[in-house]
Amino acid sequence: MNIGIDKIGFAAPDFVLDLADLAQARSADPNKFKIGLLQSEMAVAPVTQDIVTLGAQAAASILTEEDKATIDMVIVGTESSVDQSKAAAVAIHGLLGIQPFARSIEMKEACYGATAGLSLAKSHINQFPDSKVLVIASDIAKYGIASGGEPTQGAGAVAMLVTADPRIMVLNNDNVCQTRDIYDFWRPNYDKYPRVDGKFSTEQYTDCLTTTFDHYQAKTGQQLSDFAAMCLHIPFSKQGLKGLQAIAKDEETLTRLSDRFREAIVYNKVVGNIYTGSIFLSLLSLLENSRALKADDQVLFYSYGSGAVCEIFSGRLVEGYQEHLEMDRLDKLNQRTRLSMDQYEQIFFEEIELDETGTSADLPADQSPFALAKIQDHRRIYIKN
Ligand code: COA
Repeated sequence: MNIGIDKIGFAAPDFVLDLADLAQARSADPNKFKIGLLQSEMAVAPVTQDIVTLGAQAAASILTEEDKATIDMVIVGTESSVDQSKAAAVAIHGLLGIQPFARSIEMKEACYGATAGLSLAKSHINQFPDSKVLVIASDIAKYGIASGGEPTQGAGAVAMLVTADPRIMVLNNDNVCQTRDIYDFWRPNYDKYPRVDGKFSTEQYTDCLTTTFDHYQAKTGQQLSDFAAMCLHIPFSKQGLKGLQAIAKDEETLTRLSDRFREAIVYNKVVGNIYTGSIFLSLLSLLENSRALKADDQVLFYSYGSGAVCEIFSGRLVEGYQEHLEMDRLDKLNQRTRLSMDQYEQIFFEEIELDETGTSADLPADQSPFALAKIQDHRRIYIKN
């Protein structure tokens, strides 16, 4: 049975910061961000946007009423949870009006979570071919003011509908994973921002890729040259390019896949890191910005989550996949509200204040499709606009 991605959608908050402004404010050379990290802008989430609202918005952009009546599993991959117990998927299930007899869960393993969700979705459809599974990758990457990771922050969500006989991409059965118990990036429960061993994390990203790819090749007999494109986890775009360079052994393959890679980072460059969604944002960017791809082309994926778990897998493009995409997405991203440095520091790092009953004041009005309206008795109250 063919199982895979039938629909894919994306949502980002309306605010954006130009990294040239960040460089100036932090006394850094703008080329360090633009060329050194291959990033130009970052999406900034206000206090009224979180993984629930962004995830719901991404999903609402692709789902029909018929989908909502058929979906029986909602999986949210995230590492920026809003609750230690209640899954964001439960709130998103409610906001979207998905039929009640569904399983809704959150999956966590740093930037790898949604990839595990995709695999679980595939197994579920294999067992129940008439089902549809909604997989959402939703994250807000916030490293803190003047931190090493600050220029790589971002916010956004990717939603994918996984079904039998998908209209965009069939997922192949060639997945190879690796687990390593390391501390390269982590966030203890008592910390607001992640702890990052930056250089170590970049080394681990590449070493997990090369060793897992060796294993993948030995297991499947596939070579990098068999693929039309490669999508990697993109904590910042340069990291993905370095990953590709680390496994491309011949010039022709490197040149061809580097061309596709440039198309696969068009959105990541202006959104920033969205942790577990970044590899799927890269897929969306590739599909919507490449004129070189065609049906039956094979795309290789490298998903990496610090801590660390990684997975290499692949998919095959379906005839007519282009008809299920949005071709004006970059224009829409270019219409976001540009922030000054002062506004960025105030908006991105604002915290909701609670009184002794766990209740906040009404939050500022937010016209996004979904928004956090307030916190009442420690409960998050969302609205649908
Ligand atoms: N013009 C062009 N390039 C420049 C430059 C300039 N003026 N100044 C610096 N650079 C380049 C550096 O050479 C380097 O590129 P290279 O790695 O190809 O040599 C790149 O910009 C980054 O510079 P570096 O000095 O390494 O930056 P940093 O000390 O601020 O750290 C990270 C970069 C990625 C470690 C940091 O952003 C971070 O901790 N990020 C979060 C963790 C993360 O994303 N990990 C990824 C794995 S999941």
